[in-house]
Amino acid sequence: MGKDPANIQNALKLRQENKLLRTLSKNFSGTDFISNDYLGFSKLGLLAKNSSNASGSGGSRLISGNSDFIEETEKKIATFHKGESALIFNSGYDANVGLFSCVPQKNDVVIMDELIHASIYDGVRLSYAKHYKFKHNNVDDLKDLLHRHHTSFENVFVAVESVYSMDGDEAPLKEIIELKEQYKNVFLIVDEAHAIGVFGKGLCAGVEDKCFARVYTYGKAMGCHGAAIVGSNELRNYLINFARSFIYTTALPDHAIANISIAYDLLKENKQQPLLRANIDHFLEKVKEIPSFIKSRSAIQCMVLNSNEKATEIEDKLKKKNILSKAVKSPTVKEGSERIRFCLHAYNTKKEIDTLVKILKG
Ligand SMILES: Cc1ncc(COP(=O)(O)O)c(C=O)c1O
Repeated sequence: MGKDPANIQNALKLRQENKLLRTLSKNFSGTDFISNDYLGFSKLGLLAKNSSNASGSGGSRLISGNSDFIEETEKKIATFHKGESALIFNSGYDANVGLFSCVPQKNDVVIMDELIHASIYDGVRLSYAKHYKFKHNNVDDLKDLLHRHHTSFENVFVAVESVYSMDGDEAPLKEIIELKEQYKNVFLIVDEAHAIGVFGKGLCAGVEDKCFARVYTYGKAMGCHGAAIVGSNELRNYLINFARSFIYTTALPDHAIANISIAYDLLKENKQQPLLRANIDHFLEKVKEIPSFIKSRSAIQCMVLNSNEKATEIEDKLKKKNILSKAVKSPTVKEGSERIRFCLHAYNTKKEIDTLVKILKG
């Protein structure tokens, strides 16, 4: 095998020296405070009996990978989320990259929360639009940017997550909507990845018509794979024509679509959500004297530890007790805000939560 380019080797060496080298772990047996399977849907073995069991779809949606079943599922998604239409993508990453790379144009600007997900950054980087970041959840900063820039661009797209993946806190959607309503050329895009299933239909429920596009991902509380962008019929048509991550990829197979459809049925049944909510409430009660937790009502709870070493130390300490959690280090989060992240689930027991908190307090 030939030698790899020096810059690849150097980049890895640097990461290693800085103790920031990412590696793939395998052993995920233990008490689960790490996965995004908030409702436990992935463990229910959802596979639909009535879907074809073909292992692949055989082509992209625009060639041979489309079906009545996919389109019916998209209609079901649109109806559930009170949107005009939905378009399924192979993942949330693909959905965001597709949306943000093709909708904002050269004369447009994207104004996004500084903690927005990497997939949105990547989409924006592929577009010809300009972008600015506003301070996390800071409506005054957003207001200032809108005020300064709205006349210089044809369209302004404001991008937020309804629940932030690294902090677990919520976007101040009401205030952001009030603000954006003051401008004719401002369009809101909300990524609901960590809100769907945790907060019922997501946090855009009730303000659907104020959003230009909403992104629902299915790898988290929905326990399967894929994502959908919900918006107008026109947006759906536009994405089918211009979103390259939709056009140039093999469509999801029937069984993956069937899992999405069943996950929506389970969500409507609403059996797991009260269990998750009770666990979140129990956890919050238990950690209320630990001031370093970021305020969050979601399934994501983070204890800020201010250094990569401290975060790793606690992650290792918990691992020794067979408890799985995630140290989130800089540069993934800002230096000084390194943390340990716990994901709560409907299937965690109160005893598991109590044991975890006891270790954190000890
Ligand atoms: C906010 C947010 N958006 C999008 C994604 C990507 O979703 P997927 O895992 O389906 O690619 C993630 C997953 O990490 C996420 O946290």
